[in-house]
Amino acid sequence: MKDLIKKAAEDLKNAKYAIALTGAGISTESGVPDFRGPSGIWTKDPEAETRAYQSYGKFLEDPKAYWEDRLRGPSLLGDLEKVEPNPGHYALVDLEKMGILKCVITQNVDGLHERAGSRNLIEYHGSYLKLRCSQCGSRFGIKEIDLEKLRREEKLPPLCKCEGVIKLDVVHFREPIPVDAARKSQEEAWRCDLMLICGTSAVVYPFAQLPRLARKHTVEKETETESGLFLVKQVPATTIIEVNAGPTPLTEEGISDYLIQGKTGEILPEIVQEAKAL
Ligand code: APR
Repeated sequence: MKDLIKKAAEDLKNAKYAIALTGAGISTESGVPDFRGPSGIWTKDPEAETRAYQSYGKFLEDPKAYWEDRLRGPSLLGDLEKVEPNPGHYALVDLEKMGILKCVITQNVDGLHERAGSRNLIEYHGSYLKLRCSQCGSRFGIKEIDLEKLRREEKLPPLCKCEGVIKLDVVHFREPIPVDAARKSQEEAWRCDLMLICGTSAVVYPFAQLPRLARKHTVEKETETESGLFLVKQVPATTIIEVNAGPTPLTEEGISDYLIQGKTGEILPEIVQEAKAL
């Protein structure tokens, strides 16, 4: 493990454009449950996952009922106001401050990367702390609209200035990824020469396509044969590193170059420490 942490630090230092992709696993050490880990939300309650697949249809069909559901109780993730970023989130902020990490693309909707201080952040599945107009795509902080007041006055759903219906910014199953997040994420996945994938089972698409896109990216490299001839061959443009509690399809399919197995909250700070010593 120590060798791999050292290797990851060297790979990061040598990278010209490193990005990080994160999933729910990076937030479990903050007390936010993941979905498919041993005590994940879907693992413990498969029915909850089935219901989650109906959310977007419900919004399209009856936005007022969608909002009444939402305002009834706390999110599946618990009270996000009570949780704090953990050393894993802060390690990615350190790498950004060191000029190594250029972007974080997260599937998480808990807002913890933003609160930790990540600047160039793409919330691929949106955020529980934001609202978004389903027509013009404008985003608002969750506290910018008094939803409880609208509920009491029977004025749900909230409407945008463009008269579009406002929903949670969270991207529900079957809901298209907002175009701005989708396009920028693809650009980053294609542009990067190092992808650090932290705490995701990498089974949900289209996010899980991003490492596969990066894997497809090759560059020409000149090599000299023993007889002194120069050969030009295509080599992978991107080093893909996983930090995860266990192997994922990316590991099994050889999409990632190596997996550092363990807790992001412990491994990522060690990688930063090694990188600072180089
Ligand atoms: N350190 C490292 N890995 C961890 C940690 C930790 N502290 N805690 C959990 N993990 C691992 C789990 O073992 C699992 O492999 O992180 C991964 C989390 O996977 P999921 O629970 O599937 O979460 P994620 O990949 O983010 O899910 C993707 O699915 O339900 C949808 O929209 C939801 O964004 C979510 C998407």
